[in-house]
Amino acid sequence: FYDEKGDELFQQIMQLEEYYLPACEMEIIETQGKQIAEDISKEHRKLQIVELGAGDGSKTKHFLKKIYPFFQQLEYIALDISPNILEVNKSEVENHVCGLKQSGIAGNYFETYKRLPDTTKGRFVLFLGANIGNFLNAEAIVFFQFVKSKLNKTDYFLVSFDLVKHPRKIIKAYDDSLGITRQFNLNLLARINRELGADFNISKFDHFPFYNPITGITSSHLFSLENQKVHLPEGFVAEFNAFEAISVEVSKKFFWSDIEEIALKSRMNIRETYCDKNKEYAFVMFNNNK
Ligand code: AVI
Repeated sequence: FYDEKGDELFQQIMQLEEYYLPACEMEIIETQGKQIAEDISKEHRKLQIVELGAGDGSKTKHFLKKIYPFFQQLEYIALDISPNILEVNKSEVENHVCGLKQSGIAGNYFETYKRLPDTTKGRFVLFLGANIGNFLNAEAIVFFQFVKSKLNKTDYFLVSFDLVKHPRKIIKAYDDSLGITRQFNLNLLARINRELGADFNISKFDHFPFYNPITGITSSHLFSLENQKVHLPEGFVAEFNAFEAISVEVSKKFFWSDIEEIALKSRMNIRETYCDKNKEYAFVMFNNNK
């Protein structure tokens, strides 16, 4: 999703009122950031914060500012696939939290995280933005096990989860009235045309998200508006029937039982939870129970 155009569209999505997630996240940072810092500083005075998929730092900088005074030493390491976004992250954080020791490592975080050298400080891994929702439950468990492999017993892993809520509210977030999310999804086809040499006629596809309140999964689809053929290099042809769909993304909304199951299966403890006032979004702090 996240080529240059995709990044730009995602930034626009984050400004939409219907896309309620960033506002929930900011509310928790503002109202509970201090409590999170107090809880961690009981165990650690020196802390290394590692953020996976850090992005532009526009929300994390507020969190860092809140917790900075609670520690004797605080170090922030941002991991992201995009070197450009890490530049933005660096200046956002630098300007907002004076004097914080920070660095960025560009690359796939499955690689860069694995290579982090050991530290004498406490380690605090952040995975925010409800990004965990883009994994299926089984993938989330594997991901937790992977994060855990670099955590000692007193280290922490903080994850933000978008919780189940009224289905109409959820569906609006993925089918916004300005059609930005529609463009965000259709941009995938434009990218396949550009980068893989396909000939998708984008006007012959539409976007349709669907929320299943039984599973808590929002699935985004692109579907063909007519019978058509799409050509790719080396003679590959993708044939679509009218209204045949492609599944493009899952955005899971969590029941508490899902979170408990992930913790149990990845052998992590749920140490604390921090919610917004409507209890629609949660920061959950895990640690390694080895
Ligand atoms: C990045 N991720 C948490 C977003 C989500 O809500 O699943 C991506 C997104 N897709 C459509 N709108 C936002």
